[in-house]
Amino acid sequence: MTINTLVFGHRGSAGTHPENTMESFQAALDAGAEGIEFDVHLTKDLVPVILHDETVDRTTNGTGWIKDLTYLELQELDAGSWFAPSFKGASIPSLEEVLQWAAPTRLLLNIELKSGVVRYQGIEKIILDLLYKYNLKDRVILSSFNHYSVVEIHQLDPEIETAIIFMEGIYEPWDYAKRIGAHGLHCYIPVAVPELLMGARKAGMPVRPFTVNEESHITSLIKGEASAIITDWPEKAVQIRKALSN
Ligand code: G3P
Ligand code: MG
Repeated sequence: MTINTLVFGHRGSAGTHPENTMESFQAALDAGAEGIEFDVHLTKDLVPVILHDETVDRTTNGTGWIKDLTYLELQELDAGSWFAPSFKGASIPSLEEVLQWAAPTRLLLNIELKSGVVRYQGIEKIILDLLYKYNLKDRVILSSFNHYSVVEIHQLDPEIETAIIFMEGIYEPWDYAKRIGAHGLHCYIPVAVPELLMGARKAGMPVRPFTVNEESHITSLIKGEASAIITDWPEKAVQIRKALSN
């Protein structure tokens, strides 16, 4: 069976490592994933940093909103111990740190702008400027639940690949995505039904469902020719894909 489905590690390798840390990204690379997905916010002093939630409470030993903390304050936090004591000392990466690390690798980067709950002013341009600095413009997909951010990215640089993220059953989302200048569909797994996969394929639009963790889902989406799957378990997904290709 010829397989073209790529594996993107969700928040790195969130099933095995503390999400959105350098340790997690390295694990996804080591597992053989073609890409990683991670979430970006802006600190009080406008540094783009990688964390899922708007606050640091769940995944660090600190408290508070990212928007109210400086980059230096965030750097002092432990982002590993909550997951397992052996990861004590893992830190919240800046986007720049991740780009520097990723530049010499082959990884594709799905950068999710978490600009829905807090409308971080200027986050789109700040991210683009860093991509230019590290010459990574051709290896990224910028995505967001906030489609205004997707439109803004497209207006700032129409060549940058973008994707809309959605949880619900948008009717013929490829038409809507094209209208706003997005290039791909990142949908919650229950929405990734065969009708959507086939319609998007006919429209020439990649579908990359999340978060694809169950073996049965990984298998059916690979067989359904999803462009990529975004998974917490990249090592497992790579192994399943390999078995299917034999
Ligand atoms: O980008 C896909 C997925 O990560 C979106 O949901 O909440 O895990 O960031 P979330
Ligand atoms: Mg995400």
